[in-house]
Amino acid sequence: MRFILALLAFLIAAPALAQSQTVAEASSPSGTLKLSVLLNGEGRIGYSVSRGGTPVIGESHLGFLFTDAPQMLRNFEAKNTTTAAVDQTWEQPWGEWRQVRDQHNEVAVTFQEKSTLHRLLRVRFRLFDNAVAFRYEFPEQPNLKTANIAEELTQFDVQGAGRAWWAPAFESNREEYLYNATPLDGIGTAQTPFTIRRDDGLHIAIHEAALVDYSGMNVARVQGGLLKAVLTPSSSGAKVVRDTPFETPWRVVLITADAPALYRANSVFLNLNEPNKLGDVSWVRPRKYVGIWWGMHLDTQSWATGPKHGATTAYAKRMIDFAAKNGFTGLLVEGWNKGWDGDWFANGDDFSFTEAAPDFDIRTVAAYGLKKGVHLIGHHETSANIAHYESQLGAALDFAKSLGEDTIKTGYVSDAGGVQAVDANGHKTYEWHEGQIMSRHHLRVVTEAAKRHIAIDAHEPIKDTGLRRTYPNWVSREGQRGMEYNAWGVPKNPPHYDTELVFTRMLGGPMDFTPGILSLMGRGNTPIPSTLARQLAYYVVLYSPIQMAADLPENYEANPGPFQFIKDVAVDWDDSRMLAGDVGQYAVMARKERGKPTWFVGGITNEEGRDLDLPLTFLDPGARYRAEIYRDGDAADFRTNPRAIAIEKKEFRSTDRLQLRMAPGGGFAIRMVKLGR
Ligand code: NOJ
Ligand code: CA
Repeated sequence: MRFILALLAFLIAAPALAQSQTVAEASSPSGTLKLSVLLNGEGRIGYSVSRGGTPVIGESHLGFLFTDAPQMLRNFEAKNTTTAAVDQTWEQPWGEWRQVRDQHNEVAVTFQEKSTLHRLLRVRFRLFDNAVAFRYEFPEQPNLKTANIAEELTQFDVQGAGRAWWAPAFESNREEYLYNATPLDGIGTAQTPFTIRRDDGLHIAIHEAALVDYSGMNVARVQGGLLKAVLTPSSSGAKVVRDTPFETPWRVVLITADAPALYRANSVFLNLNEPNKLGDVSWVRPRKYVGIWWGMHLDTQSWATGPKHGATTAYAKRMIDFAAKNGFTGLLVEGWNKGWDGDWFANGDDFSFTEAAPDFDIRTVAAYGLKKGVHLIGHHETSANIAHYESQLGAALDFAKSLGEDTIKTGYVSDAGGVQAVDANGHKTYEWHEGQIMSRHHLRVVTEAAKRHIAIDAHEPIKDTGLRRTYPNWVSREGQRGMEYNAWGVPKNPPHYDTELVFTRMLGGPMDFTPGILSLMGRGNTPIPSTLARQLAYYVVLYSPIQMAADLPENYEANPGPFQFIKDVAVDWDDSRMLAGDVGQYAVMARKERGKPTWFVGGITNEEGRDLDLPLTFLDPGARYRAEIYRDGDAADFRTNPRAIAIEKKEFRSTDRLQLRMAPGGGFAIRMVKLGR
C-alpha cells in the first residue's frame, strides 16, 4: 500500500517537475527573436530565446541569494503580465550616430512566492530585433525591505557550439587582459562584454546596461554552454545592498547574423539607459587632444619631480604651442600635482588635486593655453584611493574649473580588489573596481563634474554600460589594454587583439585608446606591432569622442604626411557603419562627420594581409568625392616593413568600389571630401 501511495505521489509530482509552463511570450518587432517566460515544476522562473526558429538561449533560470534571508529561487507563481511596444527615435548630443532608433517589444511578469514570505519579483524583458534584455524589479514589500544580495542567480544557457572571445574576470590587472579565444565550452570566468561566434555563423554577445548602484556582472561557465552571472564582490559580505523598491541593471544578449551587425547592435545599450538627465550639454565638446603622457610611458620623462619631470611650465607651454599650431584644443598634463614622488601606485593618500608641483606654474600655463584656444585636460590619478579623492572632490573640481579645464581624466590604478574606501563607521575597506561602491563613486564624480560643466574620461574605470546617454559628460573610459601596452606591455598588443577589441570591449562604448604613435616605437626603442597606416585607422575604427594624438611632437613633426590625417580626422559623427569585419580578423568602419558631408573610412586587420573590395554605396549618389588615402605600402608588413605607407588622392562616386590591400598587422585611413556633381 505504502509503495502504491509513493508511486501515486511520484506520478502526480513527476510531470510538474519535468514540464515547464510558458507564462508569457513575446517577439521582437520583426518577429526574428522569440522569447518564452517560463515557470518550471518547482516554481523556478526561467526564460528561453530563439532566432528564426533556432534555439539561442535554452531554458535558463533566474533568482537571488541573500546574506540574511532565504533565497528567492523556487515556489513562484505568475501573478500579472503587462506588455508594451516602443518605436521612437532620439538624438545623441554627440556620438557615433546622431539619431538612434529604439524599437522594441516589452513584456513584464510579476511573480510571487507561494510560501510563507510571499515576496514579489518582477522581470521585465525587452526584445529588439538584435537583442534580448531583461532586468529584475523588486517592488516595495513588507517581507523585503532591504535586499542584501549574496548572488544573482541569472543563467544564460547558450545553445550550439561556437568560439568565444573573453577576457578573464577577477584577475589582478582589472580589465586589462588579452582575449582568450576558446570553444564555447572553454569559457572560464569572463568579464563582459564578451562575444561568441556560433558554428552556424550566429553572433552572440553578453553584457549589461545601466549599471547604477549595483555591482558589475561577470559570467562563469557552469557546464557545456550554460553560463551564470557572478556579481563583483564587496567588502561588506553582501555583493549588493539596496532598499526596495529598486531595479537591477539590464542583462543583455546581443544576437545577430554577423559581426558587423553585432557592432551596430551596441546602440541597444544606449536604448536601455534613461534619457539625458543633464539638460543642455552643449558644453561637452568632442575633441582631439595631446598630452604630456607618452614620454612617461616611454620612461624618458617622469610623473615625479626631478630631472625627468614632464610637467614643467616650459614644456607645457611648448606643448600648447604645438597643439594650437595643429588644431588640437586640449592638453593633458600628467604629473602636474603633488603626490607623484616615490611609489605613486601606493601614494593614494598623498595626492593633492588643488596643488601643483613646484616646477609647474599651473595658473600661468592654463592662461597661456586659453589664450591660444587650448584647454588643460585635468588629470586626477587617485591610485584607487576613493576615500581620499572624495574628501577633496568638490575643491578639486572647483580648482579645475577655475583653470578653464572642461575635461578631466580620472585614474584608479591599483591591483584589482585594491580600491580604498571608508564605510559608514569610518573604517577603511578594500573594494573591487566594478563593485557597487565604485558604481556609486563614478556617478558621484560624473554628476559633481556636470554641475561645473566638466566632462569625465575614467581610466581603470567601471565598465561602460551606456550611461553616457543619461550623463553625456561621461565621455570616455579606458577599461582594456590601450596603446600604453605598446610602450611597456609584456606582451604588447598583438594585431589580432585590436580586431577582437572592436567586437568585445568596444560594444560597451567609447574607449580612450590613445592612438597615433607614428614612431612605432615603445620603451627602449622596442617596435610596436603595427604598420604606420594602422595608427591612423584607429581614429576611425575605435570610437571615442575625445581622441588623443598620443605621440611626442617631434615624432609628428618627423612624419608630416601621415600626421595630416590625424589633424583632419573628425571625432563626432552623424552616422557610423561597419562595412565589413570578422571577430579577431578585421574591421572596416565608415563614419560621416557630424554636420558635414565628409566621410572617413578606416580598417585594421590581424596578422594576416587582406584584400578589400567594398562598395561605396553609403556616399551621396549625386556627388564626387576626393579621397585622401593613407594605406599600407605595397611591401608593408608589421614585422619587417612597418613604415611603408602610400598616401594618394583618388576620386570616388557611390558606384565605385574601394579596392585596397591591408598588410599583415596593417590598415588604412581615408578622408572623403564631397566635391560637386
Ligand atoms: C593608467 C592610465 O591608463 C594611464 O593613461 C596613466 O598615464 C597612468 N595610469 C597614470 O595615471
Ligand atoms: Ca591603464
